Amino acid sequence: MTPARRQERMITIDGPAGTGKSTTARALARELGLHYLDSGALYRTIALAARRAGIRSPDDPALASLLQRTRIELVPRAHGFRVRLGGHDVGTALREQSLGALASRLAQAAPIRARVGALLRGAAEGRPCVAEGRDMGASVFPDASLKIFLDASLEARARRRFDELRTQGAPVTLTAIRTEIAARDRRDLSRTVSPLRAAPDAVRIDNSALTPRGQVRLIAELYRRAGRLPGPWLYRIAQALLRMLFRTLGRAQLQGAEHLPPGPYLLACSHRSLIDPPFVGAMIPGGLSFLAKAELFRHPIFGGLIRRLGAIPIRRGTFDRAAVRAVLGTLQRAYPVLVFPEGTRRPEGDRRPPKGGVALLARQAGVPVVPARVCNTAHWRRVLLGRGRLGLVLGAPLRYPHASRADERFAADVMQAIRALPSEP
Ligand code: C5P
Repeated sequence: MTPARRQERMITIDGPAGTGKSTTARALARELGLHYLDSGALYRTIALAARRAGIRSPDDPALASLLQRTRIELVPRAHGFRVRLGGHDVGTALREQSLGALASRLAQAAPIRARVGALLRGAAEGRPCVAEGRDMGASVFPDASLKIFLDASLEARARRRFDELRTQGAPVTLTAIRTEIAARDRRDLSRTVSPLRAAPDAVRIDNSALTPRGQVRLIAELYRRAGRLPGPWLYRIAQALLRMLFRTLGRAQLQGAEHLPPGPYLLACSHRSLIDPPFVGAMIPGGLSFLAKAELFRHPIFGGLIRRLGAIPIRRGTFDRAAVRAVLGTLQRAYPVLVFPEGTRRPEGDRRPPKGGVALLARQAGVPVVPARVCNTAHWRRVLLGRGRLGLVLGAPLRYPHASRADERFAADVMQAIRALPSEP
C-alpha cells in the first residue's frame, strides 16, 4: 500500500450521485493547486470498452479478458488528468446517461474495482490530489489527510441533475431522474465489494442547502487546517487555564468526546448556569465559537475579550439575521459553534419547547448537531465544597432530516436527545 507520507496532501470526496462531488472536487483542485482525480470517469471508461465489446453485465465471463487487453492511462495535466483508452482520449462520450448506468452496474465487479483502485493509486503517486467517488476515503486512499462525505436529500440531488441536463438540452423528466438516482444509490450501497460508505474519520457534509461556493470554501478551510490546532492563541491560553481550573476545583469531566465529528458542528447544550459558556468552551477539545448577548459586547474590557475569544453577538427578542450569518460563516470556516436551544438559562426539568434557531442553523449549514448536557453547573458552590463534580456529557450527533423540512420538530428532537443524556458524568 501507499506510504502515509505520500497522502499528506490528499483529499477524498465521496458520496451518492448528484451531490455535486465533481464540481466541488474540480473547484478545490484549482483553488488548492491539486490534481482532480475522477474515479467515476474510470468506471465509465471501462463501461465504454465493455459496451464496444458487447458486455453488459458484471458477471459476463468475457470481462476478465477485456480487462486484460484494455489499456487505460491517466495522463497528468494542469489540475487534473486526461483519460486515455487504448491510446485515445475518451473525451465527452463518457458523460452519456446510459454509460453512467452501465458503469454503475459493472462497478459491482471486484476485478474492475481492483483495476480502478490501482490506476488511481498510481496516478496519485507523488502528486497531491483530490480524489472523488464512492469509496475513495474508505478503501482506495485510507491515509488521505482530509476525507469528505457529501450528502443531500434525494429530492435536492434529482433537482440538480435535472437542471443540469435540461440546460444541456437533454429530454429528461424529474421523475425519471429521481428513479435513476435512487436505483444507483441502491446499487452503490448494497454491492458487496467496496460499497458506498463514509470512512469513520470522514467529515460528513449535507449540502442540500449549501451553495457550491460555500461548500468549496468550507472544504478548503478544513484542508488548510488539517493537522493544525484550531483557534487563535488567546483562545488556547484561556481554554488551558479554565480547563485546569474546572478540573482541579470542580473535578470536571467530559464524557462522550468520541461523538465529536471531525468537521464543523453545532453543539446544542442545556443551559443551567452563568458558568456554562466558559465551562463548555473550556471542556471541548479544540474549542468552539459561541453566541453572547449583544449587551455584553458593550463592556469595554469584557466585550473586547469575548470578541477576541470568537464570541458572536446576538440581539435577543428579535430574529437577528446578522447573528445567523455570522454563525453560518463561522461554521463554513470549519469552526464548531455552541448554541443553547432553550434560548436562556432554565432550571433542570423545565419542559418548555426549545427555540427553532438550532434547527434553522443545522438546516442552512448542513452540519450535525451534537447534543450536550451540563451537569451540576447550577450547583457550583456545592461542588466547590467537595460535593459532586462538574460534567459535560455529549451524545451521538443528530442530522437535520431534509426530507421533512420541520424546524420545530427537529429542535424538539435535539432537546429530547439532550434530556436523554445522563445528569451526572
Ligand atoms: O460518478 P459517476 O456518475 O461518473 O460514476 C459512474 C458510476 O460508477 C456511478 O454511478 C457508480 O455506481 C460507479 N462508481 C463507483 N465507485 C466510484 C466511482 C463511481 O462505484 N469510486
